[in-house]
Amino acid sequence: MKGVVLAGGLGSRLRPLTAVTNKHLLPVFNQPMIYYPIQTLVNAGITDIMIVTGGNSAGDFLKLLGNGKAFGLKHLNYTYQEGEGGIAAALSLVEHFAGDDAICVVLGDNIIEGNIRAAADSYREQRSGAKILLKRVSDPQRFGVPELNGKHVLRIEEKPAQPKSDYAVIGIYMYDARVFEIIRALKPSGRGELEITDVNNAYIERGEMTWDELAGWWSDAGTFESLLYASNLVAETGANKLETEHAAEAGANA
Ligand code: G1P
Repeated sequence: MKGVVLAGGLGSRLRPLTAVTNKHLLPVFNQPMIYYPIQTLVNAGITDIMIVTGGNSAGDFLKLLGNGKAFGLKHLNYTYQEGEGGIAAALSLVEHFAGDDAICVVLGDNIIEGNIRAAADSYREQRSGAKILLKRVSDPQRFGVPELNGKHVLRIEEKPAQPKSDYAVIGIYMYDARVFEIIRALKPSGRGELEITDVNNAYIERGEMTWDELAGWWSDAGTFESLLYASNLVAETGANKLETEHAAEAGANA
């Protein structure tokens, strides 16, 4: 499985912090935000990674991350998103990188305490379709929210006023190579974007979606409140460190 970190966008909810730089270069406690999603992938044994960036300071990612040495990697891939079109539009840019492989997509502002190794292993066994990760939250209306029937996801609603569960769909998704066909068939949503929730609903309609519950805390960092919350959690727990055995593996396999 290959890895994708989506780190474009204008970060408009964090202005003026993002007036001259990219959201994913901002600090979350003691590391730039983009370090955390890369660590999430490497800790799951995923070492072939593409960063999709865009907006302000796109060139600074190369300066900061280089070939990924800080993560035990020998190489990192980059691509550039012109303008803004939503998460699914950003994802469509990695089709040539993914080839026939499955991908694990991490939104660049999603930070977790633990790791997703078990979910990634179970998706590798699943072999096709998609997997999402869910987390119970107190404010589901800020996120994609699933309607559940036991282990079955019936539908996901994006930022619903009346959420059908108290789970959020977190920004870590696993897809097979058919995701790009699905994205090509999407229509822009009310906010003019190609929504990742519509991609997930397409897999649900095909009966090919599974979900796992994430252990440990999770936060996005795309608003002032969540950026502060995530920074405090990292400061308190020292979470989501690069697990050195995987860093070593990453180096060996690169
Ligand atoms: C995006 C997704 C949403 C998901 C969230 C996780 O929202 O659209 O479904 O729950 O990421 O961080 P955004 O942060 O772009 O508003």
